[in-house]
Amino acid sequence: MKVRHVEADLVTYDTPILAIGVEEGGDASGGGLAAVDAALDGAITRVIESGDMAGELGDEVLLYGGDSGPQRVLLLGLGKLERIDHEAARRMAGRAVRAAERMRITELTISMDAFSRLDEASGAQAVAEGATMAAWRYRELKTDEEPTSVTAVHVIGGPSPDATAAAVDAGATIGAAANFARTLQSRPGNVATPTHLADEAVRMGAEVGLDVTVFDETRMLKEGMHAILAVSRGSVEEARFIIMEHRGGSEGDAPLVLVGKGLTFDAGGISLKPPKGMEEMKYDMSGGAAVIGALQAIAELGVPANVIGIVPSSENLPSGTAVKPGDVIDTLGGKSVEVINTDAEGRLILADALAYAVGLSPAAMIDCATLTGAVVIALGHHAAAVMGNDEGLMDELISAGESSGERCWPLPLWDDYREQLDSEAADMMNVGGRPGGAITAGLFLKEFVGDVAWAHLDVAGTAYGDGKLSYQRKGAYGFPTRLLVQWVRSRVG
Ligand code: BES
Ligand code: MN
Ligand code: ZN
Repeated sequence: MKVRHVEADLVTYDTPILAIGVEEGGDASGGGLAAVDAALDGAITRVIESGDMAGELGDEVLLYGGDSGPQRVLLLGLGKLERIDHEAARRMAGRAVRAAERMRITELTISMDAFSRLDEASGAQAVAEGATMAAWRYRELKTDEEPTSVTAVHVIGGPSPDATAAAVDAGATIGAAANFARTLQSRPGNVATPTHLADEAVRMGAEVGLDVTVFDETRMLKEGMHAILAVSRGSVEEARFIIMEHRGGSEGDAPLVLVGKGLTFDAGGISLKPPKGMEEMKYDMSGGAAVIGALQAIAELGVPANVIGIVPSSENLPSGTAVKPGDVIDTLGGKSVEVINTDAEGRLILADALAYAVGLSPAAMIDCATLTGAVVIALGHHAAAVMGNDEGLMDELISAGESSGERCWPLPLWDDYREQLDSEAADMMNVGGRPGGAITAGLFLKEFVGDVAWAHLDVAGTAYGDGKLSYQRKGAYGFPTRLLVQWVRSRVG
């Protein structure tokens, strides 16, 4: 899919579909709408006056053009003016793409007209993201006939052509990175093994200019990564530890480190999960996929910062060699852990990854993981939880979440919860019971971050789902690829 900005006249631009947003209670007298209305002999005014297009969110009317200019004009209601934000822009772009798919049309144009009150550049970025993500499908393993997909989107309008064009390019790059994460997420466990994730990171890194290093189990043992090795012991598939480096900053600049859980299938281990819905645990590498996607975008955008992505990747399966409840394991950070429940494996592989990251002396580090079912109970599917040891960093993530549309909301990491992890046999247990399950998981991770400014995103409720938004589909969302990219970009100005 290609998205690009076009500098052309709304009225004469030859396109199969021109999508224009309409605000609630508005008329056809403003901006580009007026010109198109005039070209259609007042058809837009008539549609609005008839009440068929009140501009309410979800309203949709299709008009047909004349001999020149747009063949169809798709009016999309956006709701009240004050609600027309970046997310509205993404969703409108998604609706336009879906309408084109229904009509079996592969190319369309989206007008920036309704988004003039947004910072023009960021509004155009959002439109490009929404269109790019809406057009994505996962069809690698299907052999039936391919349905119509949109292959080209043109973004038209915006007051300053250069800034708008650059923003459209950035949005397309970020959307494509989220789509890459979605593709990795969607691949089943027998395809997307730890080795596969590592191979994909190496392949992508060569394309965009990242330095990618992969540790195999022998190297991990040498490093002292006993926690990830304990999780991996139950599986025949070897674990991998993936390190992706983007050197966009100065030589000595402390890096920003992004860590993502890359558990390619979580059966629970000896503490086996129930069968219902277990297939969804192929998505347990969503955090890792997002970090791989984010590094792709960060490299392509040439972000002027040093950024390192780390993905500890393993399977979690039961077998005769698997780690058992009651086993005490060593970690790279040096603390011992009593494994009470082998299904709390994400925090184990992240413990080693965070301890490794501390050794890189980061300016700040973020981890993201489908870590707990408890976070889904706490926040549902509309926000990830953010926890950490640095209020300022957490605030940065909350506002990056607002503007990227991938929101997060804070949970406390108060010491009061820490005793839930106290162990008779080791420095701590790997589970803290049902109360505050997302928080005790966060507190477990906190044991491995030293003095580094750190935040943790629990994305178990937001990484995949039913696909209710126009630019989503059922399954993988790529969450939090866009949030991570937005945060990194916000750090450099
Ligand atoms: N990968 C799961 C968490 C998860 C749950 C992700 C639902 C997506 C949807 C994680 O490894 C896990 O099994 N967590 C356990 C922890 C418990 C044993 C303390 C959980 O949340 O039940
Ligand atoms: Mn688990
Ligand atoms: Zn898991």
